Formats: sequence, C-alpha cells, structure tokens
Amino acid sequence: MRFHGAAIPLLGMISFVCAAPTGATGGQTQLPDGMPSPSLKQLAKIEQNARGTLPNAPPPPSISHKGITNLKLIAFNELFEVAYFNELLRNITNNVPGYTFSDEHDRDFVIEAFTAILAQEELHALDANGALSHFGVDEIQPCRYQFPVTDFESAVILASTFTDLVLGTLQDVVERFAIGKDVGLARQIASVIGQEGEQQGWYRVLQGKIPSELPFLTTSDLNFAFTAIQNFVVPGSCPNIQDIPLKTFEPLTIATPPRAETQKITVVFKDPGFNDRNELWITYINQQNLPIVEPLDILSQANGSVAAKALFPYNEYEMNGFTIAAITKCVGPFANADEVAEHTIAGPGLIIVN
Ligand SMILES: *[C@@H]1O[C@H](CO)[C@@H](O)[C@H](O)[C@H]1NC(C)=O
Ligand SMILES: *[C@@H]1O[C@H](CO)[C@@H](O)[C@H](O)[C@H]1NC(C)=O
Repeated sequence: MRFHGAAIPLLGMISFVCAAPTGATGGQTQLPDGMPSPSLKQLAKIEQNARGTLPNAPPPPSISHKGITNLKLIAFNELFEVAYFNELLRNITNNVPGYTFSDEHDRDFVIEAFTAILAQEELHALDANGALSHFGVDEIQPCRYQFPVTDFESAVILASTFTDLVLGTLQDVVERFAIGKDVGLARQIASVIGQEGEQQGWYRVLQGKIPSELPFLTTSDLNFAFTAIQNFVVPGSCPNIQDIPLKTFEPLTIATPPRAETQKITVVFKDPGFNDRNELWITYINQQNLPIVEPLDILSQANGSVAAKALFPYNEYEMNGFTIAAITKCVGPFANADEVAEHTIAGPGLIIVN
C-alpha cells in the first residue's frame, strides 16, 4: 500500500440523497478534451492518455429497443464519470486543499492513474454515443454536474460507490442485450466490466480494503443507476435526458449505515401518501442472491417524509460488499433486481460493508 501509508477511514456508505450541492462551476463546459465531440487531434490525445484505442470494428447493423436504452444509459453514466474524474484530477493537479499529498511519489502515481482512468472513461462515453449515432439515434448530451465531496478520501469513496453501482448495472446491460439478441454488442460490455473492476480494486486498496470485494459482484438494474446519477446532475441541465426511457425513483437515505453485523438501520424517504404504512417493505439486493425483503417499522411521519427502522440481516446472508436498498410496495418474493425495480417507490440506497 503506497498511499499516505495509512488507510482511509471507512465511511462504508455514501448518501447520494442528502448531498449538498458543491463545486458547481460557471457557464463553461465541465468536460475536457473537446468532449463529447473531440476533434481527431483531441481524440488522438485521449487515446494516448487511455493507453489504447476505441474499438475499430463497426457495431452490428441492427439493434433491439432495449439495446438502444442500454447505450443511452451507458453514455449518460460515462459522461458524468468524465466530469467527475476530470474535476478530481484537476483538484489533485492544482493542489486544492484536501487533495494534497505528503509523498511526491504517491501524488505522481495518483495523477498517472487518474489521467488514464479519465481518458478511458472518455473512450467509453464516445463508444456508446458513437454506437447510438451509428444506429441513427441522437447522442446523449452532457449535463452540468455537482459533486458532494471536498477531499481526496471522500472522492475515492464516492468513486468506489458509483463504480460498484456501474459494475452491477452493466450486468443488467448484458442481460438486456441477450434478451434483445444483440449478440454483437455483448462482448465489448464484458470487456468494460473487467476494466471498471480493475479501477474498483485500486479504489478499495486506497481505502485500506482488500482489492476483491465479493465472489459474485452485486447486481443492479438500469433504473437504479439512472436515478442515482441524477443526484450529481444540476436539475434541468440535461439537454436530452428525456430521451432516456427509464424510471427516476424518489430518494432513499440510509441514515445509519450498517456495520458488518446484523442490526436495525434507519432509513428516510418521501412520504408516498399511502393510508397504510404497513404496506411498505425494504428490499435489499446483494451479490447474485435472491432479493431480501424486510418489514419496515415506521418511526415518524412528518413534513412529507417517513423515517423507518428495518433489519439489515448481515449475518444470515453474509451481506458484505455492495448492497442496494429499495423501498418496495409489495412483499415479493422478487426473482431478481428487475422485479425489485418494478415495485420500487424509493431508492436506491447504497450501502457498502467491508
Ligand atoms: C474539487 O474541489 C472542489 C473544491 O474543494 C470541490 O467543491 C469539488 O467537489 C471537488 N471535486 C471532486 C470531484 O473531488
Ligand atoms: C418539520 O419541519 C419543522 C419546520 O421546519 C421543524 O420545526 C420540525 O422539527 C420538523 N419535524 C420533523 C419531525 O422533522
């Protein structure tokens, strides 16, 4: 471990929901290198920084409806990641308070790594938008973004959290491509899943965690990623977000993130206005296991929001790594993450244990 010589404190969980808007910048674009439409010269520089190229085989001649939605969600996510890693790299490079390093070698290595990661994310975004364009669909345009972090440690924890969500969501992308018989698009996504996993291993080591999180990474659903990314978007700033046919859920805050033991956690969400609050449950998605449904014990309802307690059954299910929590309006049983998303009224709450 070469970073700081000390572990970064484990926060365990990031609340996307109560994130205070910080770091919003003026009118100029937040994306570097001419993104999302770099010149050939800018593209050459991105590829050099990424240490590799865009795939040069053409996409297949046709694509399914679900396949188009996949590409839109990927572009939407990757453009956000480009803005994030660009700002993070800039903070480190400019020695912004909170982003300084006592060891010059650590700083050099972190800059080298994030320079590559930024460019690699730029190529992921260009690849998805390029495929949309190939299929005659409008490319997804970048929004304006705001991030709830002001130091390197919390920036790495946030990167680790959204990368976990991406690692789960790309599983859903591959399944949707399979359902739509988009054979020619699946392999590239598999290569990107591995790539994001390499990033994640490093983010975990930076936090003093072991690099490999779980035997089978937690799965997700496109709609959960679409909702979570919007927490970093300046409302109303996305030129064509309405072209993405996915659901945006109400926010869910994990007020007391769990430790590695069975315990009750407190969650807060917008009052859905149901007459009978007993008709709500919390559902957890962890690893490749069947979703876990627990009853909600309502603590208070005031000012349009509900606070509730629920069991986080860590011991029974070995709930390490990434967990997605959702408030569902039915008890299940749910066969998979997509069924959870279908019945979600608030979420995703993002939890990382260990
Ligand atoms: C960069 O630093 C500014 C100033 O502290 C902060 O507001 C912003 O959120 C930081 N961005 C990232 C990605 O770390
Ligand atoms: C509801 O809002 C009022 C006014 O902002 C505040 O005084 C009160 O404590 C809030 N109640 C709860 C339970 O949060």
